Amino acid sequence: MKRVILFPFMAQGHLIPFMQLAHLISHRKGYTVTIVNTPSNIDTLRSLLPSTSTTIHLSSLPFNPSDHNLPPNSESTHTLPSPLHILTLLRSSESLRPHFIRLLSDLSSSDGRPPLCIIADVFVAWTVEVARDLGIHHAVFTTCGGCGTAAYFSLWLHSPHLKTPDSSFGVPGFPDGFRLDRSQISGVLKASRGADDERSYSFRRYIRLSMESDAMLCNTVEEVEALGVKALRVVSGLPVWAVGPLLRGPKPVSSLNHDSRACMEWMDSRARGSVVYVSFGSQNRVTASQMRELALGLEMSGRDFVWVVRAPVGFDPEEEFRAEEWLPEGFEERMKNRGVVVRGWAPQVEILSHASVGAFLSHCGWNSVLESLSNGVPVIGWPMGADQYYNAKVMVEELGVCVELKRGLEGEIDGGDVARVVGVVMDGGEMKRRAVEVGVKMRAAMGGGEGGERRGSSLEAFDDFFDKVEAFYN
Ligand code: UDX
Repeated sequence: MKRVILFPFMAQGHLIPFMQLAHLISHRKGYTVTIVNTPSNIDTLRSLLPSTSTTIHLSSLPFNPSDHNLPPNSESTHTLPSPLHILTLLRSSESLRPHFIRLLSDLSSSDGRPPLCIIADVFVAWTVEVARDLGIHHAVFTTCGGCGTAAYFSLWLHSPHLKTPDSSFGVPGFPDGFRLDRSQISGVLKASRGADDERSYSFRRYIRLSMESDAMLCNTVEEVEALGVKALRVVSGLPVWAVGPLLRGPKPVSSLNHDSRACMEWMDSRARGSVVYVSFGSQNRVTASQMRELALGLEMSGRDFVWVVRAPVGFDPEEEFRAEEWLPEGFEERMKNRGVVVRGWAPQVEILSHASVGAFLSHCGWNSVLESLSNGVPVIGWPMGADQYYNAKVMVEELGVCVELKRGLEGEIDGGDVARVVGVVMDGGEMKRRAVEVGVKMRAAMGGGEGGERRGSSLEAFDDFFDKVEAFYN
């Protein structure tokens, strides 16, 4: 029996593509897959695993958040009280090292041979040291896009923004014409000012360790993100295989909870392409004033909407929904025939694959981008940090499927601009056509291969990666 070990980072947006990768490996290659993580993330993974699966195993490693100064139940980025804890969570994963080594040794004894390879998240790249010590092939899997990962790596490694007084600058590893603006640099990177303070040291360390891996898999499609994948090869110095989009499919509406079903039923009553879906992923939250402007903008746009609302910054994320404090006075009452305010968590994949959705107002997290475009839904971009700026840039400049909201120096937005951009994207026939075209390419990349038919590029890359791994193993 050949076994592949998967080790995702502890975040919703990472667990889902890792689970999809596990499905693909077990279905296409017939290998046994063991996914390793902390107990509560294993519970999340279990909820994503079909009960019929016998070849994907979940293995939980002991982890106690309070040993790392994390609040109880903080084992995933979306349960952290603030994004400031992400670095602590990132570092705390290293406490899993001895347990991980023990698990690998137990599995090797019971299988009679070591695992075929370890595929680990870029953010748990310390696993490369374990793999090297045990002589196991190692690949990092970036659940972000090619451009996003390459830009993120390059900015952390080379700090090009500190080498020029100009507001725009080129990025090492990208062609000359590719320029970023200072406003497209995340707060953590800006704050580091190129020095190896504690936070910067950790980020750079994971990037450098990733670059010591044997290979990189990326959750993207080569022909959709040609520039980004090419840059990723240059910046990382690794062989990169684009194996995406690794996405979960929509669940039947009957299997959803009561609120989610009600939301989908409301969408059934709306015209094709008439609804704006608004959501900011699993970890970003907006400020109270941004929330007010967004509400005003949606109201002014005159469009139907589904909006996932969470406590604004400064409020406890776990606290009860407080419409009267968070939303403009009477908003829900005035909008009761035009919109659904979802409290906390929406069935995003199901929503984006519903025919009534015409646009997605998104923070441009990579999973959201893939889920939107694979359904041919154009995007209203409101990037808030990390790789999100570069994902938005790809969508605006290369794919022509997105318009960004204007943001002030402190990230403030204006309701009038929200209403205007919603109109531009919802009525943008050409943009919709291009989004549909990208969706077709994405599906084609994962299709084919039956009855002599040519495989899509991502399936071909996936098979090629495992051919190389097998050659190393034998
Ligand atoms: C994080 C980073 O913030 C992002 O920059 C990076 O590109 C990926 O990792 P996150 O912010 O969670 O991701 O956003 P995203 O990548 O969009 O993933 C969110 C996932 O949660 C998506 O699969 C989405 O479908 C799901 N989700 C989110 C829901 O199902 N319901 C919700 O209400 C919100």
